[in-house]
Amino acid sequence: MTDNQVKKNIKKSPKHIAIIMDGNGRWATAQGKPRTAGHKAGVDALRTTIETCASYGVEVLTVFAFSSENWRRPAKEVNVLMDLFMLTLKTQAKRLHNNNIRLKIIGDKTKLSQSLQQKIIDVELLTAKNTGLLLVIAANYGGQWDITQASQCMMAHAVSQDIPLTDLNIEDFLSTAAIPDPDLFIRTGGEQRISNFLLWQIAYSELYFTDTLWPDFDKNALDVAIQYFSSRERRFGQTGEQLDEDG
Ligand code: IPE
Ligand code: IPE
Ligand code: MG
Repeated sequence: MTDNQVKKNIKKSPKHIAIIMDGNGRWATAQGKPRTAGHKAGVDALRTTIETCASYGVEVLTVFAFSSENWRRPAKEVNVLMDLFMLTLKTQAKRLHNNNIRLKIIGDKTKLSQSLQQKIIDVELLTAKNTGLLLVIAANYGGQWDITQASQCMMAHAVSQDIPLTDLNIEDFLSTAAIPDPDLFIRTGGEQRISNFLLWQIAYSELYFTDTLWPDFDKNALDVAIQYFSSRERRFGQTGEQLDEDG
């Protein structure tokens, strides 16, 4: 990172926010409802967060919707999550498009149903030219999968184009290629772990953990997270004194 990039990155509001939306199941259980009710409420919380981020001029919002490990859940819950994803894409596509939001899905899509894969292509195409918020949804995503597939693509590219591997950069092959890394990483639901979300990309993200369960995460909760971010001094390996000198 150049000194100028470092300067630009400090003391600013987050341009890219990444969120692990956790706690849907516990939210539902606490209300005596089935876990799936929590997932439905989670979609509403996501809509609020998308709208708030768009209104704040956040450039990228990346959310973890389904991890490569979530297949280990009971088949019934997995099916509900997949159906909910499909339904949400169907019902929200126009709304996203009308709000100038561009949608991108990252993850191993080959494991999703054919109809879901087709819907993803349709919505990505519909919104491809939009210039507002970029909404990245991680579905069947794992950070380890991403680094593995990026390495494989990079090596295949080196061979097919006869380029030395040392001239290539793995970032250009990650599923987030061309997207700046998250400035602010948020995890709701009380756990303080990464759970195989963006591993490479959060190298210098500010990490914010809250006990708030995802369905309860509202505009106010997002404001608190953004305030936390603003209070951090991002040094990117430099000293605080160097940053003061650079103004
Ligand atoms: C996050 O909420 C949603 C997904 C993982 C799909 P959880 O379903 O993990 O909720 P808790 O952590 O069990 O409360
Ligand atoms: C992470 O939450 C995945 C998503 C929010 C989609 P999990 O609930 O699956 O994470 P663990 O299992 O508690 O680490
Ligand atoms: Mg969880």
